Amino acid sequence: MIGAAGKLDMPRAADIREGIGDEALYRGLRTALAATEKELLRICGAAGAERMRGDLGRIVGAGGKRLRPTLAYLCRRADAARGEALRAVPLLCMLELMHSVSLIHDDVVDDAAKRRGVASVNASSGARAAVQSGDFLLAKAMEKLECYRGTGVNEMLAAVSAEMCRGELLQQRVRHDADAQSEAFYYAQIRSKTANFLSASCRAGALVGGLSEEAANRLGLFGDRFGLAFQILDDVLDFKAEEAFGRPSGQDIRNGVFTLPALLCGDDAVRHLLPKRNKTRREIRSIVARVRRTGALERAADRVALHCEEACAALAPLRDGPAKRALARLAEALAERAREA
Ligand code: IPE
Ligand code: IPE
Ligand code: MG
Ligand code: MG
Repeated sequence: MIGAAGKLDMPRAADIREGIGDEALYRGLRTALAATEKELLRICGAAGAERMRGDLGRIVGAGGKRLRPTLAYLCRRADAARGEALRAVPLLCMLELMHSVSLIHDDVVDDAAKRRGVASVNASSGARAAVQSGDFLLAKAMEKLECYRGTGVNEMLAAVSAEMCRGELLQQRVRHDADAQSEAFYYAQIRSKTANFLSASCRAGALVGGLSEEAANRLGLFGDRFGLAFQILDDVLDFKAEEAFGRPSGQDIRNGVFTLPALLCGDDAVRHLLPKRNKTRREIRSIVARVRRTGALERAADRVALHCEEACAALAPLRDGPAKRALARLAEALAERAREA
């Protein structure tokens, strides 16, 4: 299990050996992730300005679960390939670069001081530098597009990127506004900012693996449900112990964002207090305590389990094999993690 560097204490690629249960697939995944890692660090080291090199090396080098490359790799191997498989590593790099951009920019928007247990780029070098660092990584991600012309992968990832921005903007717009934040709105927003990207990582893996359109759609559905569960768990963990996951807790509350636990808690005091600007630490603690007391974290964890079951059900029509089993195991591990939270 991953510690302070990655927020969600769920298995990292290197820890799902048992779930994979197939030595060749496990070795292939490890090799592809190691090559991805090397390329990511090379890219960070190629940034023109020394300060940017330092910031990017720190954030990207701090790790993270490498979840999107892991999903893409497993999906690439998740069914009998029909067409010719294309190289995986450029895709895995592109996904992790896009993810890194979203995190670096998200920390500007959320005014977050930490990421993966280290200082965020905005905290160390300011918001302008963080925007520029993100833009640099995005340009590097675009260089990888060349390999996948004509597969549909590039268009899909461009659409995901636009959708992620929309999701973040949606969240921005309704901050501190209780009436605008409903459960339906929450789901639309987490789909835009998180689930679509995970879904596209799975679909892209499948397309690059030469899988059929139908298999790619199935894997895309798996990624969508897994992505909803993943973001809900992240939001549950925002109500957990300070600094336990490499970033301060209570960020969403501080920013006036109603995530699923706050929406499910049905507590009038939370509804009135959460939208308030400039809340004191005491007020934030009181919101956390109230939400916890209502059992809303457990109800949100049930939702995680439900979406993980939907994710596994989406895999059912695919031919059984080690990669399919590993994907199911990841979803089960996510649901287990939510139950422990
Ligand atoms: C964080 O993603 C943002 C969310 C979508 C919840 P991850 O939890 O995958 O972040 P890292 O890469 O492991 O740090
Ligand atoms: C996910 O939202 C951010 C992106 C999709 C970029 P959060 O704001 O919940 O992510 P964390 O909690 O800061 O990692
Ligand atoms: Mg954030
Ligand atoms: Mg969060």
